[in-house]
Amino acid sequence: MELLVTGGAGFIGANFVHYVLGHTGHHVTVLDKLTYAGNLASLEGLEGERFRFVRGDIADAALVDPLVAGADAVVHYAAESHNDNSLRDPRPFLETNILGTYTLIEAARRHGTRFHHISTDEVYGDLALDEPGRFTESTPYNPSSPYSATKAGSDLLVRAWVRSFGLAATISNCSNNYGPYQHVEKFIPRQITNVIDGVRPRVYGQGRNVRDWIHAEDHSSAVLAILERGRIGQTYLIGADGERDNRAVVELVLELMGQAPDAYDLVADRAGHDLRYAIDATKLRTELGWEPQYGDFAAGLGATIRWYRENEHWWRPQKAATEARYAELGQ
Ligand code: NAD
Ligand code: DAU
Repeated sequence: MELLVTGGAGFIGANFVHYVLGHTGHHVTVLDKLTYAGNLASLEGLEGERFRFVRGDIADAALVDPLVAGADAVVHYAAESHNDNSLRDPRPFLETNILGTYTLIEAARRHGTRFHHISTDEVYGDLALDEPGRFTESTPYNPSSPYSATKAGSDLLVRAWVRSFGLAATISNCSNNYGPYQHVEKFIPRQITNVIDGVRPRVYGQGRNVRDWIHAEDHSSAVLAILERGRIGQTYLIGADGERDNRAVVELVLELMGQAPDAYDLVADRAGHDLRYAIDATKLRTELGWEPQYGDFAAGLGATIRWYRENEHWWRPQKAATEARYAELGQ
């Protein structure tokens, strides 16, 4: 297959590109605007017969149209992805997540191109800490932040294009990813790189918020399974039973990096901070036979810490500006 991967210079998109080139014979074109979150260094060495990179905006219809026409399938990762940024300036989230997705699905409709839309568990809002149920494909949408509201909007556009125009689309909603190539604004890489810099990790509020962690490579294998074997028009939730609260995660980071487990600070909370996400991935596991490979979170986290230690050239250019933005918010 000829795949058009949007946002392939970002964290999860880059992991997917490496996974696809390493595990299949598919060809990949990445379309990426290279915003502050995109990094060409994540795709270093891939240029060749099976891979090419195009710099551009997914909301640019004239650029998007021939790329979608030339692809057998579009895998749509490109987005503004960070909740804290969406609280400061929501507009780019509307432009990329809503108008960008609209531009891509219009092109896919015109050319009859298969479309896979990457989304998030945040569209479902949050759960109480003691709630027995987890998110399933039939949980009602209830997004909390400007980021998750625009992701919910983009999911609903894709669903409407399937029903009204027969778009050959699938959707996946995944939980929190960790692994290599993640921007230092996000929780785990921020804390790892803080410790490398001799700075104490910073945890929002009381640190009791729960996220359901999955390694980015397991996300990639799930997306590939849906792309190759998923039923058109269906949504699949992706998760690997990785619930942990933020204190537990930061304490494990500190322990794995040889620091005292209580050497972190509680700082100002995020506005509207979702309490808990939890995914029930039964449909993906039973229908498509998918299984995660990174069952051991401490081992996956240890490997991620090693990657940040060994790839300082990759993250160092973003670190100071990212921390300066957090300092303005007291975070
Ligand atoms: P990221 O911020 O690391 O990367 C986003 C990429 O999209 C960057 O390379 C950026 O340059 C590109 N981009 C942004 N606007 C663009 C535009 N207008 N045109 C073309 N390219 C543009 O994001 P990520 O964490 O890798 O997330 C990727 C996708 O996965 C997003 O759709 C996100 O909602 C979804 N998701 C993320 C997680 C997570 O834990 N990070 C979990 C579930 C779903
Ligand atoms: O659930 C999937 C979502 O996961 C994706 O849709 C988003 O794109 C992705 O960014 C992520 O959203 P979160 O808001 O959960 O991720 P973040 O890394 O920003 O924060 C994880 C948790 O850690 C959250 O409870 C906020 C907290 N946090 C974050 C930072 C940056 C801290 O306590 N301290 C921090 O410094």
